Order: sequence, then structure tokens, then C-alpha cells
Amino acid sequence: MTMKYKDNPQAVADLVRPAEVHRDLYIDDEVFDLEMKHLFASTWVYVGHESQVPNAGDYFATEVAAQPILLARHTDGEVYVLHNRCPHKGTKIVIDRAGNTGKFFRCPYHAWSFRTNGKLLAIPLKKGYKDTGFEQSEAGQSGLPPVGAVKNYRGFIFVRMKQEGISFEDFFGGSLSSLDNMIDRSPVGKLEVAGPPLRYMHNCNWKMLVDNQTDTCHPMVAHESSAGTAVEIWESLEKDENTKTPMAMEVIAPFMSPYEFFEDMGIRTWPNGHGHTGVHHSIHSDYSAIPGYLEMMEEAYGEERAKAILGENRHNTVYFPNIMIKGPIQQLRVFIPLAANKTLVESYIFRLVGAPEMLLERTAMYNRLINAPTSIVGHDDLEMYERAQEGLHCQELEWVNVQRLYEEGEDLDLEAVENGTTERQMRNQFHAWKKFTVESMEAEARDLADA
Ligand code: FES
Ligand SMILES: [Fe+2]
Repeated sequence: MTMKYKDNPQAVADLVRPAEVHRDLYIDDEVFDLEMKHLFASTWVYVGHESQVPNAGDYFATEVAAQPILLARHTDGEVYVLHNRCPHKGTKIVIDRAGNTGKFFRCPYHAWSFRTNGKLLAIPLKKGYKDTGFEQSEAGQSGLPPVGAVKNYRGFIFVRMKQEGISFEDFFGGSLSSLDNMIDRSPVGKLEVAGPPLRYMHNCNWKMLVDNQTDTCHPMVAHESSAGTAVEIWESLEKDENTKTPMAMEVIAPFMSPYEFFEDMGIRTWPNGHGHTGVHHSIHSDYSAIPGYLEMMEEAYGEERAKAILGENRHNTVYFPNIMIKGPIQQLRVFIPLAANKTLVESYIFRLVGAPEMLLERTAMYNRLINAPTSIVGHDDLEMYERAQEGLHCQELEWVNVQRLYEEGEDLDLEAVENGTTERQMRNQFHAWKKFTVESMEAEARDLADA
């Protein structure tokens, strides 16, 4: 393989122009390796929610920056984020996605064992490892390596793989208001993951999925065959004044809203690649009230604040680079890049602790109807991503257009609210992609020069 981009930050920077990006961002293996090593290591990446590991010994395994990662609850009550890699010969310590390991992890190859905070516990025939570094187990060295930095934000656990870098607060800034709103919808300010996620593999680049989260010009087109058919059938049925719109129709019908609806909903962007659709209203605005819920919220927060929390109808909030959340229905989707053309998606729903169960029913229904691999909507999108992934191999056209409502001089380092069909948020993501990838490549080059 020729190395076109490695050690060449300028070539990587040139892939992102103000209103178009190069196809290599999606299809090139070398670019993929670089973005994992630099972008995913120097930004704050979501790993999991603390309610996935409620008890000591609970663990959850995932991938961050295309590396195996482990989240574990230790006996001190803390959640540790560790590399899922035996220091001996590299074997993955756990292979199940989630479970309870008891008091310690035990590598299945030669039985080295580790405490649930990652520290080395014991090595069989230990004296044979004199002067290798592994004999220092009591000092707690040589265990499962920790990641650079961990932040537990109100139960949501993020990591920065590098030791040094931008702080969590500086990276996310005002965008944390979306997470706050989702959490505040619980009268006691607490969420719990409800069951395992829907998990599905996409044969496309992870950025296809992230781009799609604020692509408001596609629902009425790509989802016409699914949502459009559902609406047509519902409209053809005989109804009278007692007919209640089923929850499933409330969920699916807004996908067929006209362009003006999406234009008016607005898009807000924040620096560093974060942003959301649904500033003024969204496809979640017109759901029926859940009996008793408003009263519970007023009791907990007071009338005014309860109204403000529930009046927020943000649609999709992208926390660049790897998640999207939907506050009004308590969902989170994680985009886990595995290769340039392979992305694992996990779609989680949350229970609002202390709120009526019907809210959980609604988020579960949404996940099933819209996000599941067996849903009637989700695979409309999947088909588009996979077609684009194949189409981008065309040699004739090298650039991907993200120009909609672009104006020269656009400043993506400023927060802004714009027309809901702008592609500003996509440009914002690529701007952040370039900034963090290239800065980290340049820092690496400086370190090498200094060494
Ligand atoms: S590889 Fe884990 S103990 Fe040998
Ligand atoms: Fe879609």
C-alpha cells in the first residue's frame, strides 16, 4: 500500500474543503487508521452508561478507536475504563459484550488475573518473570492498561484515549444542554439503560451515519416507501371522533412531514462538531401527553422549570464523533467504527427513573419501529449508506457535496442557529474532524522530531 496520508498532515487537511469533502474520508483504509489514531484518541468519545454496570464485578466490553475496551465496576464503587488486552500476550480478557466477572478478571490463556480496577492480581509461576516488570504486581503495575482520561457526566461515561488534550468541558461546551435535558426529564434526574441495545452492523463508513443525523432533506424521500405507506393506510381507515391515534402512528407519521416543516425546525451548531436539529419544533413535538407525568415533573421541579424541560423538543443531537441522542424519547445511538467500510451501531433506550412506564413503552416502540434492523424505517437509511459507500468508488468524481445553505466566510467556531435544512452541522463535523486529526498528527511529528 502506498502511504499517501501518513506523516502528511497537509494531505489530510486538504481532504476537507469549506463546502465539500474528499471521498477518501469514507473509503480509504489509511485515512481510517489515521482518524482512529488521532481524532478518536484526542477527542472525548462515549463508552457507555454507568447503569450498564450497576454492581461490583459487572463489565461491559466495546470498541473505542477500533481498539477493544472494557468498562468495569470495581469494589470501590468506581467505574474503570481499561484496555481489554492481556499484558502477557495480548488476549482479550473478556469476549462477551457484558457480564459479571466476580472479584477479578482471569485471562483464559495462562490464567494471569486482574482486579476489576485493572491492577495485576496474580501470575502462575510468578518467579519466572523476575526482572520483566511483571513481578511488581503488588505495586499494581503491569495490569490492564487504563485509558488516558475518563469523565462520568451524570452517568454517561466518556473517555479521551490520550493522556493530554482538550478538557471534557471545553470539548462539549454548550452541547451538554441536550444531555442535561434528557436526564432532567426524570423527576429524580436519573436515567437507567433499559435492556441490551439493538445492535447491527452496517457495511459503510461511520461518518455516513453521523452525517445522516442532521440530514433533514431525506426523510420524506428515503422513508416514503415505509412511513409514507403507513400514513396512507392509516388515512384510508374509517375513523370517528373516538378513534385514538395509535402510538406507532404518532411515531412514524412525522417522517413524512414536508420540507417546510424541516426548514422551520431549525438546526443549532456548537464548536467542535456538535449540533442538533429541532430548535423550534421537531418530529417529537406532537406526541400525546403521558397521564400523570406533567404533575410528577411539576412536583419535582416547580411549574416553570418543568414546563421548560418538557417544552424542549430537540430532535437529534450529535456529540461528535460517535453518538447521537434524542432527549424527548431518551435514546442514544453509538456509532462504533471497525473499518473504513464497517460500522457497528448500538441503539440504547433509557428508563426515566421515577416517571410513568408508558414513556419507556414509547421509546421501546420508537427503537423497534425506526432503529431496529427489522424496522420498516432504519433499513431505508442503511440502503442509502451502503449505496453511497459503493458509489464513492467512482473515479470520475472525487468530492462529496455538503454545500447546502453554505455562505462564504462561515465561522464554525461560533454557535449558530440556522434554517433546519442547512448542512452546516455536517460541515461543522468535518471542520472538527480536520482540526483534531491534523493537530494530533502535527503534535506527533513534533514529538518525533524532538526525540
Ligand atoms: S495471554 Fe493472558 S495470561 Fe497469557
Ligand atoms: Fe433516515
